[in-house]
Amino acid sequence: MFYLTTAIDYTNGAPHIGHAYEKVLADVIARYRRLRGDEVYFLTGVDQHGQKVQQTAEKEGIHPATFAKKKTKLFLNLWKKLGVQYDGWAETTDDRHKACVQAILSDLKERGELYKKAYKGHYSVRQEQFLTDRDRNEAGEFGPEWGEVVEIEEENWYFRLSAHAEWLKNYVSSNPDFVIPGFRRNELLGALANSAELDLCISRPKERLRWGIEFPFDPDFVTYVWFDALINYISFAGYRAKDDAGLPDFAKLWPDKGPVHIIGKDILVPAHGIYWPCMLHAMGFRDDQMPQILVHGWWNRSGEKMSKSLGNVVDPDELADKFGVDALRYYLVRDIVTGKDADFDLDRLVMLYNQELANELGNLCNRALNMTGRYCAGIVSTGGPANADDHALRDSLKTVTAEYRAAMDAFDIAEALKAINRHVTVCNAYAERNKPWELAKDPAHKGRLDSVLAHLVESLAHCAVLLSPVLPEPAERIAAQLRMDTLMELRLDDLQWGLVPDGHETGKPKPVFPKIVTEEA
Ligand code: MSP
Repeated sequence: MFYLTTAIDYTNGAPHIGHAYEKVLADVIARYRRLRGDEVYFLTGVDQHGQKVQQTAEKEGIHPATFAKKKTKLFLNLWKKLGVQYDGWAETTDDRHKACVQAILSDLKERGELYKKAYKGHYSVRQEQFLTDRDRNEAGEFGPEWGEVVEIEEENWYFRLSAHAEWLKNYVSSNPDFVIPGFRRNELLGALANSAELDLCISRPKERLRWGIEFPFDPDFVTYVWFDALINYISFAGYRAKDDAGLPDFAKLWPDKGPVHIIGKDILVPAHGIYWPCMLHAMGFRDDQMPQILVHGWWNRSGEKMSKSLGNVVDPDELADKFGVDALRYYLVRDIVTGKDADFDLDRLVMLYNQELANELGNLCNRALNMTGRYCAGIVSTGGPANADDHALRDSLKTVTAEYRAAMDAFDIAEALKAINRHVTVCNAYAERNKPWELAKDPAHKGRLDSVLAHLVESLAHCAVLLSPVLPEPAERIAAQLRMDTLMELRLDDLQWGLVPDGHETGKPKPVFPKIVTEEA
């Protein structure tokens, strides 16, 4: 079983392009793993608790639950619109999740992993955490990134994070694949080397924060939002769930090997790289059950971090309406290297879609089907002898398929798409060289004409399958025009030359990628 999760998005605002990227990336990976033949379970959802939700709801004068529900709908609608197909949906206000968090708290207390103590210190309202002197900037102040900082003294529950610090250091050092890509793992190693091994405050007194999961053994406290949120990865996987809870079988989803968590670079240290493995370790998870963390970079605008305060947020919902879901999905995974940051550039979105999809792949689709229809009554004849040029085309497809596979296995979607595009370009050049429109003029060239068209149609069928994780709907439209309904049921290993049988009748071409015409054009 391939169990895949994304971060769960805060419901204190509307979904933005960064949220959309992460979910589309996860969707592409999930669909690819199915194509590879894996059984996949893809979990995503929303993070509904915490101070920010409570504060924003208060400003609007509504209950945090009503507010979180309202925002949650925006996420649900967007994932539907963008074709993000998940198997499990995590909402942290779900009673089943609350019960799991409470069971874990009780369990950890029994294991001696929790204690209560009074603490006086500086607290960042924005980041919802206590600060230490190490969080001060060079001027000795708490910088603007912490927002409002207040001094408070209060009793709270603590998790003995420090008791697991040595274990974590060893674990991360001896497991190079725990965090990918490698340079993100180095960031974690760096953070661990400098860590002061403090314990983690995991409660908030109710007088300060009501909007959270109540401590089962101390009802004056609610759970710190990160402690609550991280547990979604196991609560919605059926950990400690009742049989009739409608959740997956935990032992099946998380047998020994843990899941792949897809997250952004901002939440690796400390949440996913430190708190989470230590929490799992404290719960009794073995080293071989630890998850793997795939860290992606950020979509920025002109090198700046996108944020509401900078006023440069690109609304994915509007973008999908304006340019189409296909162009948006394609751009989100085509113009960024997994792990690194990229600049969100609408001109490039339009250019890459028009050039690589509308012009190149659209052209291959149109000309292969159009000419097979016009010159051969739609019938593909594969029997003719193959010449050197045909063999070169087959070799290109073989190479490209292997490159695609290697790139996808390494979560490098952009490289995989470039591989498909290389073959499409090879096909279009092959068509230009072999000129089926000329061959069709002389019946003596019928054998050659058949062969050229068969090679183009066969290539198109392969490309549709390879493209399907990124663009499932266009891939289906190509399969329908090829009249190969079962094409979308094929696995990666089925992609051998000869998918289109001799005598197969293809359908009529209809534009799969209508060109985007911009206002300026
Ligand atoms: N609620 C926490 C995650 C809890 S996971 C147990 C959170 N939420 S978030 O809404 O702020 O961010 C959700 C995800 O979106 C994170 O993985 C974050 O890195 C990602 N992104 C937020 N802005 C982004 C970009 N501009 N670009 C790419 N991804 C970014 O953190």
